[in-house]
Amino acid sequence: MAHLGAHFAFRSRWQKTDHELCRHSMSFILHKAIRHDFFQSYLFLLEKIPLVKLYALTSQVIDGEMQFYARAKLFYQEVPATEEGMMGNFIELSNPDIQASREFLRKFVGGPGKAGTECALDCGSGIGRVSKHVLLPIFNSVELVDMMESFLLEAQNYLRVKGDKVESYHCYGLQEFTPPLGRYDVVWIQWVSGHLTDKDLIAFLSRCRDSLKANGVIILKDNVARESCVFDLVDSSVTRDMATLQSLIQQSGLAILGQEMQAGFPEQCVPVWTFALHGAAQP
Ligand SMILES: C[S@@+](CC[C@H](N)C(=O)[O-])C[C@H]1O[C@@H](n2cnc3c(N)ncnc32)[C@H](O)[C@@H]1O
Repeated sequence: MAHLGAHFAFRSRWQKTDHELCRHSMSFILHKAIRHDFFQSYLFLLEKIPLVKLYALTSQVIDGEMQFYARAKLFYQEVPATEEGMMGNFIELSNPDIQASREFLRKFVGGPGKAGTECALDCGSGIGRVSKHVLLPIFNSVELVDMMESFLLEAQNYLRVKGDKVESYHCYGLQEFTPPLGRYDVVWIQWVSGHLTDKDLIAFLSRCRDSLKANGVIILKDNVARESCVFDLVDSSVTRDMATLQSLIQQSGLAILGQEMQAGFPEQCVPVWTFALHGAAQP
């Protein structure tokens, strides 16, 4: 009952502005307490649940750019434009990665009912490690897209021998890149999907689907968390779990043609999965 007493004691002030009234009334004290508790719970969630943290970061816009993307750019400014840089200093994993990618790709390309070998797009290409070792030996032409101009500049040197097969270098964030319609036999997206928010990844995958030729496929290769999504503040990326990734793929109007876990990586590494995706048949 005490709060009612306090409430009535200040009743005359109710005629004044809300601000003044609330400052002296018990309801304000209650409001303040609730707000404090709410904030504490929010901070707790922020610490404990990576996706809540991701929401806070992805929803904040600084200087016209979402903080989530701005942070990734800052991170990659410090990454050397080398194979080591592209592999996050796990250079010893590059060969098994390339070997498995070549074998996986062979199942979906070249032959009746499979994707053609005319043109491929390497998304989040960096300096073009995947283009050099996996795509250029197979396709007549390859295009690269990456948000870092420095990596694309180095790509022109790194891919020199086979460089005449590189059709274009697109300097864009994938979240704002629209590949041309019906152009590619294969769209390769490796170790970059975690740098897109859920909403942007769905939209990007769907734009990639529209950029495929008949029988074209999207190859998505990335780390997949063993249990629930994990947010990495250092490079501003999210490692999604299998259920989340599959749900985003489905929401983008794609279906999984094949999937495979990378073999030969050390047990302590986050599992890496490769998916072959194609446009889901319309219902
Ligand atoms: C770990 S490296 C992988 C490079 C390459 N896919 C490979 O496997 O060697 C990640 C690459 O994604 C690029 N990247 C990160 N966020 C991006 C974004 N939003 N749009 C386009 N590229 C992005 C980085 O610049 C970097 O080149």
